[in-house]
Amino acid sequence: MSNNRQIKEPDSSRTDLKFRWGGILENPYISKVHRHCLDGFKVGGLAKIIKSLEYKNILDVGCGIGEYSTMKKGRFVGLDNSLPRVKFAQRYYKHGLFLLAEATKLPFKDHSFEAVLLANTIHHLSDESLTEGVLEMKRVSRKYIILDDAVRWSDQNRLSQFFYSMDRGTMFRTTEEIEAILKRIEDLKVVLKGNFWTFPRLYYHTVIVLEVGDLRF
Ligand SMILES: C[S@@+](CC[C@H](N)C(=O)[O-])C[C@H]1O[C@@H](n2cnc3c(N)ncnc32)[C@H](O)[C@@H]1O
Repeated sequence: MSNNRQIKEPDSSRTDLKFRWGGILENPYISKVHRHCLDGFKVGGLAKIIKSLEYKNILDVGCGIGEYSTMKKGRFVGLDNSLPRVKFAQRYYKHGLFLLAEATKLPFKDHSFEAVLLANTIHHLSDESLTEGVLEMKRVSRKYIILDDAVRWSDQNRLSQFFYSMDRGTMFRTTEEIEAILKRIEDLKVVLKGNFWTFPRLYYHTVIVLEVGDLRF
C-alpha cells in the first residue's frame, strides 16, 4: 500500500456496462448473494471486529438490506437513502428499526448510540459528504465509530479492477486517502485498524475503529 503511483484510478469509461451491473446489484436478493459469496460478509475482518467490540446498541449508516442486524444481539437501527433497500430490511429483519435517511444528516439526538457503523458505503460518499457523515456519526456516538470499505491497492488484479469499476459507488479510495480525510476531524482516536482480503481476492478492505474523544456514559 506504500506506493500510491501503482494504484490505478477506477475505469469510469464503461458507463453502459456499469449502469447495467449497478442495476442488477440494486436488486436486494442479488445484492445479498454478492455480499455473501464475493465480499466475505460474516467471515471477513469486519465481522470479527464487530463481534469483539462491546456495545449494547448500534446505528448502521448506509445499512443496505439490513444484514448487519443479524451479526450481534442488541438494539439495531439501520438507515439508508435507498427506499427499496430500507423496505427490504423492514420486511426481513423485524428485530431492527430501519429508516430512510441521509448519512450526512442523521435524525438522532447527540450520543444516542454506543456504536455507529459505516460499512461498504465510503465509496458512495464524496470527500465532503464523508467528512460531514463522520462528523454526524461522532455527534450521535457515545463510544465507537466503525468504518469499513473496500479500498484500492497497488497491483490490484484486473478482475478486481473490473468489479470496482462496475460498482454504483465511484469513489473507491486507498487506505491512506481515507485516513487523510479522518485526520482532519478532531477528537477521534484510532483504537483499531486493519486490512483484509475477501475470498477470492476481489475486494481488499480497510477497517478503522475510532473512539469518540469525550466518552459520555
Ligand atoms: C454497498 S452498499 C453497503 C450496504 C451495507 N452497509 C453492507 O455492507 O452490506 C452501500 C449502501 O449505502 C447506501 N448509501 C449510499 N449513499 C448514501 C447516503 N448518502 N446516505 C445513506 N445511505 C447511502 C446505498 O443505498 C447502499 O445501500
